[in-house]
Order: sequence, then structure tokens, then C-alpha cells
Amino acid sequence: KPYIVIMAGGIGSRFWPYSRNDRPKQFLDILGTGRTLLQMTYDRFQEISSPDKFYVVTNQQYFDLVKEQLPEISDNQILTEPLRRNTATCIAYAVYKINAIDPKATLVVAPADHLITQENKFHAAIDQACHAAQTEGRLITMGIQPNRPETGYGYIQYLEEEGQEIFKVKTFTEKPNLKLAKTFLESGDFVWNSGMFIWKVSSIISAYEKYMPDVSEVFNEGIEFLGKENEHEFITKAYSLLKNISIDNGIMEHSDQVYVIPATFGWSDLGSWNSLHELKKKDKKNNVVEGNAILYDTENSYVKVSSDKLVVVQGLDNYLVNESDNVILICKLDAEKKFREFVANAKKKG
Ligand code: GDD
Ligand code: MG
Repeated sequence: KPYIVIMAGGIGSRFWPYSRNDRPKQFLDILGTGRTLLQMTYDRFQEISSPDKFYVVTNQQYFDLVKEQLPEISDNQILTEPLRRNTATCIAYAVYKINAIDPKATLVVAPADHLITQENKFHAAIDQACHAAQTEGRLITMGIQPNRPETGYGYIQYLEEEGQEIFKVKTFTEKPNLKLAKTFLESGDFVWNSGMFIWKVSSIISAYEKYMPDVSEVFNEGIEFLGKENEHEFITKAYSLLKNISIDNGIMEHSDQVYVIPATFGWSDLGSWNSLHELKKKDKKNNVVEGNAILYDTENSYVKVSSDKLVVVQGLDNYLVNESDNVILICKLDAEKKFREFVANAKKKG
């Protein structure tokens, strides 16, 4: 059975003010299923692993939230980070920790904030990936059929081979500019990187040694502290030494051992209100309405009221109205690129 590493360190700024610093989106029941995104991620992998093989990597401020939401796992399976150092560092922490316990382990690394549908197909793909990962050195990714020139994803180009289900990757390009993304989309040769990775612990350690020797050096030096009392002390020091860089930029773009399995399951990275609007149940005028709200002459909009206030709107088209605690945000539904700006400025206002 594979180990499951869940990356849950995001701050969810694009869902502000519904998602706050003290409770980012992975800890919210954003889909209204009764389970938070973190819990849904746990549920999805429960079938293919066992509770003692899960590791959640998150900022230390979210330790209690993880513990509360996943009572099935024990404290030492929650790896807490003192700083945000992006996915290359977050994954390295889990990799070296698990290596100290079980150097033969196979890992599935997954973000805590995605939606997967058609879970049967997903489980089959993970099985297949775990199998393929047994060949030493291989780094397995899952490819998603792209439908727009999104610049926030990684693009994977692979060599099509008759009768195969797993393909050797030719190029991996993380977050291309719009022009390049359009070229990739039009060529029809590319899939998006889903952000999930499957590999043997020994394969990814070799990759760190080759492409990010600074990371492997820091963790090799602290190997004796992992799993011991002074683990957190060591991690605090290690994080202060390491750069902020993603696994995609640090390893996946450079390695010649990357493989891809094109996905047949449904996938959404739930990256914006727009993506939630697409997924959720709409009224006759294509509005998503959550909470206490009355709409007149309004269409293609998302109205979310989290408190017990009553919100009345008229005449909106393609708007987000998002009320939460002491904040009301009203903006174009597709203004997602501006969200980080809103949040930064709002924080200055206190
Ligand atoms: N613990 C921890 N610590 N988790 C982190 C950190 C960190 O410092 N940084 C990011 N994460 C978590 C996020 O919460 C998310 O679940 C996951 O790691 C991926 O990070 P993102 O910041 O969301 O990456 P991205 O969306 O820009 O890009 C990645 O995902 C895309 C698909 O959604 C890349 O892998 C792309 O290639 C990919 O297309
Ligand atoms: Mg993401």
C-alpha cells in the first residue's frame, strides 16, 4: 500500500473573505458536501491506503485544524512547517521523514484542495501509477486534458505511443506565459499537470540529489532528528536555509525520468469562484445562491452569504457577492486575477 502525502499549506487568498488566514479553503466545506476539502482528500485515498500511512504537511498554525478534521491520523503524521517554502521543500520534508521509516515506500503526493470525480477511474489510475513507479527512478504524473490556455498550470508534452497507457514525458513547462499556453493548447500535444505525483521514495531522493542538491544536503544532515524529539527544531533551521521553490520548477521541469498517465477521471483544482460556479447547481438564471439572499433581475452570478444577514441584490450580471463576518466583497465573478490584490489591500485596512 502506498503512503499518501497531502499538501495542505495553502492560504486560499482567492476565496477571501469566505476563506481566511485562520481557515484557508482546504479546511472549509466549500462544496457543501458536509466534508471539508481536506477530509474529501482523505476519504478519496482511504480506499487505497490505510490511516497509518497518511502524512499531512501544513503550516504549524493549522495543526489543530488538521487534528480536528482528521481524527483518524496521529499527531506524528501531521508535519508542521514554520514557514511557507513551497512544494519542493514541503515534499522533501515528507519524503525524508518517510524514508527514515520505510526506505522502500511508494508515495502518492496530492494537494488537499482539488475535486476528483469518477473515483473508480481515479483509483484505477493511482494503482496503475504505483505499479509504473516501481521502476527505479521514475517520477509519475497525471495529465489532464486542457480546455483553455490557463497560465496557472504546468504543461506536459509526451510522445504518443500506440497501445500504451503511460508515456514518457518530452517537456514539462510550469506556468507558461499566455502566448506559449495558447501554442501548447492549439498543438493538441499537451496535457495539464494535475499536481499529483507518484514515485518511490528512493526515486525522488535521487532527483533531489541531482537537481536540488541544496535540499538533499540540508535534509541529509538532519536525518537523525527526523522522528525524534528535536525534529521541529531541526525543521525550523532547515526551512530558514531553503529557497521558496515549487517541485515543478525545481525538479519536474528538469528531470528526464518523468512519465505521465493521461487521466480519464474528472478533475478540478477549485482555483476560483468561477470554477465553483461552473460546478455547482444553478437556478434558472444561472446563479449560484448560498445563504440568505433574494435576487431580482440577476443572472450568471454567485451570491454567498455566510452570516445570518439577509442580502438583497438587483440587476447584477456576472457578479460575485460574498458576505462573510465583517466583510462584503462585490466584484466581477471573473476578477480572480485581482483577488490577491484585494486581500493584500484589505489587510492593510485591518
Ligand atoms: N504544506 C505546504 N507547504 N503545502 C503547500 C505549500 C507549502 O509551502 N505551497 C503550496 N502547497 C500546497 C497547496 O496548498 C496546494 O494544495 C498544493 O501544494 C499545490 O500548490 P499550489 O500553490 O496550489 O500550486 P499551483 O496550483 O500554483 O500549481 C501546481 O498545481 C497545478 C494544478 O493545480 C503545479 O503542480 C502545476 O504544475 C499544476 O498544474
Ligand atoms: Mg493550486
